[in-house]
Amino acid sequence: MTNIHSDKILILDFGAQYTQLIARRIREIGVYCEIWAWDHNPAEIAAFGAKGIILSGGPESTTEHGAPKAPQEVFDSGLPILGICYGMQTMAAQLGGATEAADAREFGHARVDVVAADKLLNGLTDHDSFQALEVWMSHGDHVAKAPPDFTVTAVTDRIPVAAMSNETKRWYGVQFHPEVTHTKQGTTLLKRFVADICGCQTLWTAAHIIDDQIARVREQVGKDHVLLGLSGGVDSSVVAALLHRAIGDQLTCVFVDTGLLRWQEGDQVMATMAEHMGVKVIRVNAAERYFKALEGEADPEAKRKIIGRLFVEIFDEESAKVTAAGSGQVKWLAQGTIYPDVIESAGSKTGKAHVIKSHHNVGGLPEHMKLKLVEPLRELFKDEVRRIGVELGLPREMVYRHPFPGPGLGVRILGEVKPEYAELLARADAIFIEELRKADLYDKVSQAFAVFLPVKSVGVVGDARAYEWVVALRAVETIDFMTAHWAELPYGFLGTVSNRIINEIRGISRVVYDISGKPPATIEWE
Ligand code: XMP
Repeated sequence: MTNIHSDKILILDFGAQYTQLIARRIREIGVYCEIWAWDHNPAEIAAFGAKGIILSGGPESTTEHGAPKAPQEVFDSGLPILGICYGMQTMAAQLGGATEAADAREFGHARVDVVAADKLLNGLTDHDSFQALEVWMSHGDHVAKAPPDFTVTAVTDRIPVAAMSNETKRWYGVQFHPEVTHTKQGTTLLKRFVADICGCQTLWTAAHIIDDQIARVREQVGKDHVLLGLSGGVDSSVVAALLHRAIGDQLTCVFVDTGLLRWQEGDQVMATMAEHMGVKVIRVNAAERYFKALEGEADPEAKRKIIGRLFVEIFDEESAKVTAAGSGQVKWLAQGTIYPDVIESAGSKTGKAHVIKSHHNVGGLPEHMKLKLVEPLRELFKDEVRRIGVELGLPREMVYRHPFPGPGLGVRILGEVKPEYAELLARADAIFIEELRKADLYDKVSQAFAVFLPVKSVGVVGDARAYEWVVALRAVETIDFMTAHWAELPYGFLGTVSNRIINEIRGISRVVYDISGKPPATIEWE
């Protein structure tokens, strides 16, 4: 079988917002890559076996004392190197060039004039009569002087070194960001680096990833039995489909219907996973238990904890039943951990990542169960998970669904959770989503949902005075969910949604639209 990890790229992260995007682009090109912190153990960097190294951008300034540097081993490795933004600046600073702090930041679109040909830029242009690239810039400092043995290959009217290279060493630097789509030739440039300059074969495809994971899972679990907490979300559904393909009936899924799911979601999950795909799924109808446990609790963090704890309890009970029923010895717990979770938890260990809310992800491991973990999506970004989901035969609509928080409607009903609120909210939410799909807006926003506000407002319905609940609509656009803009949905569209909700759902008499950005507001209301 093809070794899809044989040709790979290492990305050293200097803390840029765009680092994961670099990795996603490289993967899209078809090459495996990993992101490690810039101060990662140099011996491991050498042992990793990459065919090339990318130095990412970052928020620091090379002109300041103690600024992060690429380990010397990187330059001694003989491997091709591509420095992007800060990555290029630190190359310049470390290799005998010069950087300087600018008077003003340059942020956004820029035109870069190509002034010398190298393997990265040769013939690349966005114009017919001259060689220039339309790119995306985001920097304060810039390279003032390229290091000795480097050629300046591009300039702009604001900076003297927009790109540089030392072709003998196969070292390249660009001030702009090839990973963002605003840089029109960005993917071509990255492809030239990883395929032509580093010589990587493009083996990283959905079909290969599936074959690779199936083989690994089979080897890992052997004849043992595996349990999976199915949430209805993309990640756990793809894990289920993948494990089902790998080990068939050795997989049992537990799907806890908390009563806090989206409208008819429980039935949909069962229809797709159990009926359509033939996955063994135990459905636990636990709504009453959840509502009882949440009674009287209004604090968001306390609610999250209750929901998380209850999930573990129920999961525990159900797995004991599976074992008791003699479905082989259950030794493994499957989880839908994906690569950004791995990067984030590495970051939180070193204190680099901030935890704003205690995110509870369905599938927490009951301590005493002593199950070993199988995590077949650990290497994958969300877009890769989606692609393999489609390849495995899951419906597109399920695979491309907006993210839904683990605690579900529990954090979208502000304050105390009650079953009647959950019902009203799920129905309002379903109308909003249905209209988004009808208007072809669903895929244009990153996440959209309704929020239940436990306040009553006065309205007139027919001739009567109504005194009923308020629902807020929230829709955001974001790349990484760390920052987000509220989506500028057309007024006419919002009007339609509002009319439908108020007319069709008794108990809601007012609909408002949330126009807060993140930061300072988070995407969810709790
Ligand atoms: P916030 O509200 O922090 O949301 O801006 C960022 C993204 O995370 C999701 N989210 C959660 N996901 N458990 C989850 O699994 C949680 O407790 C949780 N809280 C927020 C949110 O839906 C958005 O996509």
